[in-house]
Amino acid sequence: MVCRNRFKILHFVSLAIQLLVCSAIEVTYDSSAIIIDGQRRVLFSGAIHYPRSTSEMWPDLLQKAKDGGLDAIESYIFWDQHEPVRRRYNFAGDLDFVKFFQLVQQAGLYGILRIGPYVCAEWNYGGFPMWLKNMPDIQFRTDNAVYKNEMQIFTTKIVNMCKAAKLFASQGGPIIIAQIENEYGNIMGPYGDAGKAYIKWCAQMAVSLNIGVPWIMCQQDDAPQPMINTCNGYYCDTFKPNNPKSPKMFTENWIGWFKKWGERDPHRTPQDSAFSVARFFENGGVFNNYYMYHGGTNFGRTSGGPYIATSYDYDAPLDEYGNLNQPKYGHLKKLHESIKLGEKLLTNGTRSSKDLGNGVNLTMYTNGGERFCFLSNTDKSNDATMDLGNDGKYYVPAWSVSILENCNKEVYNTAKVSAQTSVLAKKQVEGQFNWSWSPEPMKDTMQGIGKFKATQLLEQKQTSFDVSDYFWYMTSVNVNESSSFSNKVVLHVETKGHVLHAFVNKGFVGYQYGTPGQLSFNFEKSVSVKPGENTITLLSATVGLPNYGAFFDTQPTGIVGGPVKLIGDNNATLDISSNRWSYKVGLNGEGKRFYDPDSRNTKWRTSDEIPTGRRMTWYKASFKPIDGNDPVVLDLQGMGKGQAWVNGHSIGRFWPSYIANENGCGGSCDYRGEYKAEKCVTNCGNPTQRWYHVPRSYLRSFANTVILFEELGGNPQNVSFQTTTLETVCGDAFENSLLELACSEGQTISEIQFASFGDPSGICGSFSKGSCEAKESLSQVEKACVGRESCSIDVSEKTFGSTNCVTKRLAVQLACEN
Ligand SMILES: *[C@@H]1O[C@H](CO)[C@@H](O)[C@H](O)[C@H]1NC(C)=O
Ligand SMILES: *[C@@H]1O[C@H](CO)[C@@H](O)[C@H](O)[C@H]1NC(C)=O
Ligand SMILES: *[C@@H]1O[C@H](CO)[C@@H](O)[C@H](O)[C@H]1NC(C)=O
Ligand SMILES: *[C@@H]1O[C@H](CO)[C@@H](O)[C@H](O)[C@H]1NC(C)=O
Ligand SMILES: *[C@@H]1O[C@H](CO)[C@@H](O)[C@H](O)[C@H]1NC(C)=O
Ligand SMILES: *[C@@H]1O[C@H](CO)[C@@H](O)[C@H](O)[C@H]1NC(C)=O
Repeated sequence: MVCRNRFKILHFVSLAIQLLVCSAIEVTYDSSAIIIDGQRRVLFSGAIHYPRSTSEMWPDLLQKAKDGGLDAIESYIFWDQHEPVRRRYNFAGDLDFVKFFQLVQQAGLYGILRIGPYVCAEWNYGGFPMWLKNMPDIQFRTDNAVYKNEMQIFTTKIVNMCKAAKLFASQGGPIIIAQIENEYGNIMGPYGDAGKAYIKWCAQMAVSLNIGVPWIMCQQDDAPQPMINTCNGYYCDTFKPNNPKSPKMFTENWIGWFKKWGERDPHRTPQDSAFSVARFFENGGVFNNYYMYHGGTNFGRTSGGPYIATSYDYDAPLDEYGNLNQPKYGHLKKLHESIKLGEKLLTNGTRSSKDLGNGVNLTMYTNGGERFCFLSNTDKSNDATMDLGNDGKYYVPAWSVSILENCNKEVYNTAKVSAQTSVLAKKQVEGQFNWSWSPEPMKDTMQGIGKFKATQLLEQKQTSFDVSDYFWYMTSVNVNESSSFSNKVVLHVETKGHVLHAFVNKGFVGYQYGTPGQLSFNFEKSVSVKPGENTITLLSATVGLPNYGAFFDTQPTGIVGGPVKLIGDNNATLDISSNRWSYKVGLNGEGKRFYDPDSRNTKWRTSDEIPTGRRMTWYKASFKPIDGNDPVVLDLQGMGKGQAWVNGHSIGRFWPSYIANENGCGGSCDYRGEYKAEKCVTNCGNPTQRWYHVPRSYLRSFANTVILFEELGGNPQNVSFQTTTLETVCGDAFENSLLELACSEGQTISEIQFASFGDPSGICGSFSKGSCEAKESLSQVEKACVGRESCSIDVSEKTFGSTNCVTKRLAVQLACEN
C-alpha cells in the first residue's frame, strides 16, 4: 500500500476489525517536484482505462505496471457508461472505478483521476451520454446553464463517491491529482468569450469540491490558478507551465497511436519513447504519464469515431491482452530506474545546460557536491562521441539521451536497448465450430413499417438515443406509368454516414461506407421501380460517434436532411426528402436479444450448408472450455462487418473485410527524428483487425456460446479461438552487461535456438553468426537458461572464454514452452 508506513491503530477494539487505517497524505508541489508528505518526487504514471479491460484483469495489469517502475495509474471516468439514462447510474462490475482505484492503492501505486467529464479518449461521443444532448437548450462545453448544471452534478457525484470510499490522498487514499475538462485549450477559439468564461467556471467548480489534492487542466495555457496546466503530445520537453511555481507535467506521453478501420498498425519505437521521456526530465520535467500504459479494447459500442477500431492496443507497454510488450516495457522500466537514481537532485538541485555543439547538450543537476547528468544528442542522423575529460568518454547515438549517474557513469542510453524482445504467437484452440444461423427478421422494414413517422429525414444519433448502430428510414413512392420515373431510376441518397444499405421493394440494391475524415457521402444506384407503390428502405449504421474537435457533438449522423432523390429519364428529379418517412431504431434481432444465448426468441437453423456471403445474418456456435491462462482471441478472418458476443458479452464491432492501406510498411523503422503515426507501421494490406479479445472472465467452464451478427456477408468457416502465447524470446547485449531473459509465468525455456558471443548480425528471428565467436557461446547459455523460467547471463569473456573480436556482443534466441 502507498500508505504502508503510516498505519494508525485506532483503539484496541477496532484493532480486531480494522487493522490498517491509512492517514491523510499531503500532496503539494513546486516547480521542481510533486511533494508527497514532504518527500520531493518525480513521478512515472501510466494510463489504464478501467472499462477497456475487465475487473478480473485489473490486479495483473496493475502489478505489471508496478513492476514496470510506475508510481501512479491514471484513468478517465466514463460518463456515458455510468449514467446511460439520466439519474440511473451504473458503477457495477467492470465499471466499478472505486474498486479499480482501491486496487491501485493495494498495488502500492498512486491514482490520477481525470474526471473530465468530457474525455475524448477515442471513446464514443467523447464520453457524453446521448440524453444529455437531447436536453432542451443545451450546448456542450461552453458557458451554458443546462450543460454546466449537468456537468457539476456528475462531477460532484464522482467526487462524493471518491470521498465516501476515502480515495483522495487527503483522506489516506491513492488519488494524488485530479483533472477537470480535457484538452479544451486545443479547440477553445471557436467558442469565443463563452469558452473563456466556461473554463473559469470549470476551475471554480472544481476547487469548490474541496478534494484536498491538486487539480490539473491539460492543454490549457490560460488555466486559472490554482489549476496546473499540463502538456499532452509526443514530446513536451519545451513546454512551460503558465505559472512558474507549477510543476512541469506531461499528462499524455503518446506511446503509440490508435487505429481506425482501414488504417495500418502504428508503432512508436522503444528508443524514441524513451528519448521523449528522458528529454522531458532533462528539461525540468516532474511528472510523466504514458498514454496508454495498457490501451486494451473498445468493447461493445464504446469506440469513438467515426471509424475507430475495436482494438485500442496503442502499442502500449502492456499489449491489448495484458502481455508485456517487449522490448518496450523493459526498456522503459530501466529508464524509470535510471531517472530515479537522480530523484533527489532533479527535485532539489540546480539545473544548468551546456551546448556542446552539433545538437549535443550536457545538462547537469547539482546540489552541494552531488551531480546528476543527461547527455543528449538531438541530431537526427549523426552519432557523437563526447569526451568529458575526467568524467569519461561517451558514445551518444543520434536522437538519444544518456543518463550519467554522478555525471561520470552511463547507466542508460535511450537508443541502446538491452531489454529482451518477446515474440508472441497465436495458437489454435482445438475443436471445430458447429454453426447454426438465423436471418435478421426484416419483414416489417422491407414493407416500410416502422414505429414512428415524420415528414422529414431525421438525425440518427439523437432520434435513436444511440441505443443501436442501426436506424431505418422507410418511405413509399407512387410511380405513374408513362412518367419519367416509370422503369429505371437512379436512387440518390446523401448521408452523413457512416454506412448505408439500400433496399427497394424488398430487394437489396447496394451498400456504401465513408472513410475517416469524410463528413458525408453520396450513394447512387440505378434501380428498377414498378408502376404503383414502391417501398424504399434505407438502413443507416454508425461506426462510433465523433469524440474530438470544437462542436464535435453537433456533427450530424445518418441521412438527416438528405436529400434523397429519384432521378428519372432526362434527369427529371423527384426529391422525396419531405415524403412521409417511417422510422425504426435498431435491428429486430437486437430487440429480441438474439445475441443472448439464453434467449428463446431465435429459431436457429442448422443445415449442412451454412450460408456464406449472406447479408444481415446471425450465426451461433457452442464451444468447449478453453484451458490454461493465456489470453484468448476470436479470429474472425473471413467475416465482413458486424458485432460479436461471447456468452452474451459484446466483444465489440468486427470489420475484418476492411483491409488496411497496402503501402508504407516496407523498409526498416528508424527511431531517429520526430515520431508521427505514419512512421513504423505494420499490417499493410491485411484485415485492419482480424483478432478480437475475449477476456477470460467472459468464458465459462462449461457450455460457451459465440454469436455473430453479420451485416455485409461473410464466411464463418475459418472462425476460431486462439490463445496468445509467448513463444520466442531474444536478447541482444553488449559486453560487460547483464542480459536478463524470461518466459511468461508458468513457462520454461525449452531450447536455445541461437546463441553467439562475438560479432553476430541480424535481428530477432533472423540472427546469424559473424566472423568470430566464443566456442562456449551455446553451451554456456544452455547451461544458464534451459529448464528455467528466467535466467541472467553475465555477458563477458569470463562467461564465454576469449574471442578475437574487437567489439563483442551476445545475441540469443530461445523458445518458451507451456
Ligand atoms: C535541498 O537542498 C538544500 C541545499 O542543499 C538542503 O539544505 C535541503 O535539506 C534539501 N531539501 C531536501 C528536501 O532534501
Ligand atoms: C542546449 O543548451 C542550450 C543552453 O542552455 C539551450 O539554449 C539549448 O536550447 C539546448 N539545446 C537542446 C537541443 O536542448
Ligand atoms: C451440430 O449441431 C446440431 C444442433 O445444434 C446437431 O444436431 C448436430 O448433430 C451437430 N453436428 C455436429 C457434427 O456436432
Ligand atoms: C402519380 O400520379 C399521382 C396522381 O395523379 C400523383 O399524385 C403523383 O405525384 C404522381 N407520381 C409521380 C411520381 O409522378
Ligand atoms: C444528366 O445529368 C448528368 C450529370 O449532371 C449529365 O452528365 C447528363 O448529361 C445529363 N443528361 C441529360 C439527358 O440531360
Ligand atoms: C480459410 O482459410 C483457408 C486456409 O488458410 C483459406 O484458403 C480460405 O480462403 C479461408 N476462407 C475464408 C472464408 O477466409
